[in-house]
Amino acid sequence: MMWWVDVLVGLTCGAVILVPTPSTAAHAVQTPLGAHHDIPLDFGYDELVDWRLDEPPDANATGNLIFETASSLLQFWPNTRYRNGHTIVPGVVRPGTLLYHGTSKQEVPSVPEWTATDPEHSLAFCQGRTETGCWHLTLAATRPLQVLYFDGSSASKLQGNQGGSMDSQDIITWGEPKPEWLYKERERIAALCEWGQQYGLDGFARMQMDFEIMLCNFTAGVEVVTFANLASLKIGPPQDGRPNYKHIMFRATEIIHSSSWHYRYPGETRVQLDLARLVSFYDTALFPSLVSQRAGQERWDHRLLGISAADSAALMKRLDETLSKQDQTNSGVDWPTLFRVIIDRHADRLDLLRDLLADTSTVMDSDELYRQARVIQLQLRVIVTPYALHSATPPNSSMLQQVGTSWAKPVFRGCATAHTTVISSLLSGQMTPSERLLLDAVQQTTRELCRVMVKMWAKGVMNGLDEYLWLDDREGDLPRAVVEGILQDWRTELDGLMTWLDWSVWIKCRPSCGPKRCYIPTWPFGFPSDKLPMSFPAPELQQPQTLEQFMHLQTGTNFADWERPQPKCIRRVQPYAGF
Ligand SMILES: *[C@@H]1O[C@H](CO)[C@@H](O)[C@H](O)[C@H]1NC(C)=O
Ligand SMILES: *[C@@H]1O[C@H](CO)[C@@H](O)[C@H](O)[C@H]1NC(C)=O
Ligand SMILES: *[C@@H]1O[C@H](CO)[C@@H](O)[C@H](O)[C@H]1NC(C)=O
Repeated sequence: MMWWVDVLVGLTCGAVILVPTPSTAAHAVQTPLGAHHDIPLDFGYDELVDWRLDEPPDANATGNLIFETASSLLQFWPNTRYRNGHTIVPGVVRPGTLLYHGTSKQEVPSVPEWTATDPEHSLAFCQGRTETGCWHLTLAATRPLQVLYFDGSSASKLQGNQGGSMDSQDIITWGEPKPEWLYKERERIAALCEWGQQYGLDGFARMQMDFEIMLCNFTAGVEVVTFANLASLKIGPPQDGRPNYKHIMFRATEIIHSSSWHYRYPGETRVQLDLARLVSFYDTALFPSLVSQRAGQERWDHRLLGISAADSAALMKRLDETLSKQDQTNSGVDWPTLFRVIIDRHADRLDLLRDLLADTSTVMDSDELYRQARVIQLQLRVIVTPYALHSATPPNSSMLQQVGTSWAKPVFRGCATAHTTVISSLLSGQMTPSERLLLDAVQQTTRELCRVMVKMWAKGVMNGLDEYLWLDDREGDLPRAVVEGILQDWRTELDGLMTWLDWSVWIKCRPSCGPKRCYIPTWPFGFPSDKLPMSFPAPELQQPQTLEQFMHLQTGTNFADWERPQPKCIRRVQPYAGF
């Protein structure tokens, strides 16, 4: 048999590993912290038993979900895509920050009310009579305002099976998610503010078409900047017996326009979060009852309905601890930056690899296919370069079948621990429970990233594709079938990894929109609702009967779109769906 055939067979049937492999429960759900950091730098194969390249993460592990949600906080795009929030984080609104409130009367609210971070949002509520105009209040924070942030589309009123965006706040207000109380917003804000008083909370940050702060007291920690009597923005008289949909749509679209400034990292920076005090419902140790609720469900459908009473009590206890001790010591690690470094280093490269692999699927010429495989191998090499130790080389081909990919384990280990070794060994003593959860999420995420990258790279090396690591006794070019097999294997590995990571940076309009705007279906545009106003008896066919239908026609949004939002290019001015 030719050597490459041996390699192919060896890999296809699962590489033979020399190292004994004891029970591998080591990184099951909620890996014990520090399980992987205390391996001495000077190691032999025995210390690398935990670094098997053919061992994917546990199916119930949530490190990827915690990593993705914690790195998406306060960003409109990921939180519009996945509407059901799973994270609660304390934060501050800094002095000088402006907040806006639209109303029909010239009275500073004496009860908790909503404020917007962008006036485009609050102006929708500036709805006085045409003769008198409407009132638009601008406030400025005079001291740091303490707020609690609910991620996801936590101010959107999604109904029925699509619901879940308010689950996390409902557990605080009513002890459990209450879908039937979806529209009890007045009761919700009153209950939240009353509960928050003991912790000095000034408000609650949420998101729907844009970000908002539910402000508990309009005279505490804020000063009136202006209280302007604006020309009424009341929607004009009905046209042909129908409300002026065109105008409603224009106003709503301008809110989405302002939210597009917060689409991606760093998102809405007027709220600044303290991740050392974050609570995640993907924390399987704190919320074990949710593990079985999520089993077999797609991420879109994850929600908190069905949380046990014990887990709800655990939430309140954790919030009590974390909100009572605001000066609790922490490690000082800048978690958002750590997430960003890992995403920056890999997001583009993985995207490029996927494109390069897709391109190979139509190549007829065998030499060209081989050339492209080597180009891809070079990109894999770029990713592993900082960890490709001089000593990590494959043995000669006669030994290869025996050792499989075990020679690459030090590279895997080096890659997977690069960002966290010191954090976990020297700083974990000062960490809050939230920080330990975040560290575990980073470790699980980098581990799987590196496992797949190193496995793909090692496969190329062992098949003689690598520019820098040649096998001594390599013979001639690879047969086409072997190259095709490697490419197929790479595609499967990469797709699996990118699906598992599910980073929102990969969700974009392809090709990009040029002068149009990339839009992701946003509640209430095109969403079914029995509450949104204005259903009308059927006039002519083709005419939109409801605001939802109008929005639907205008944005080209269809039902599959709002259930599983996909990005699309829309025009910046009416008609929005015009192509
Ligand atoms: C609102 O804040 C002001 C100023 O701190 C305080 O005097 C007032 O009692 C507060 N109102 C309520 C309802 O707590
Ligand atoms: C995942 O969790 C579900 C529900 O608790 C359980 O039935 C299943 O066995 C778990 N799977 C693994 C691989 O641990
Ligand atoms: C391959 O390596 C092994 C172990 O180092 C050695 O015994 C063997 O002679 C080598 N074979 C070839 C063909 O070089």
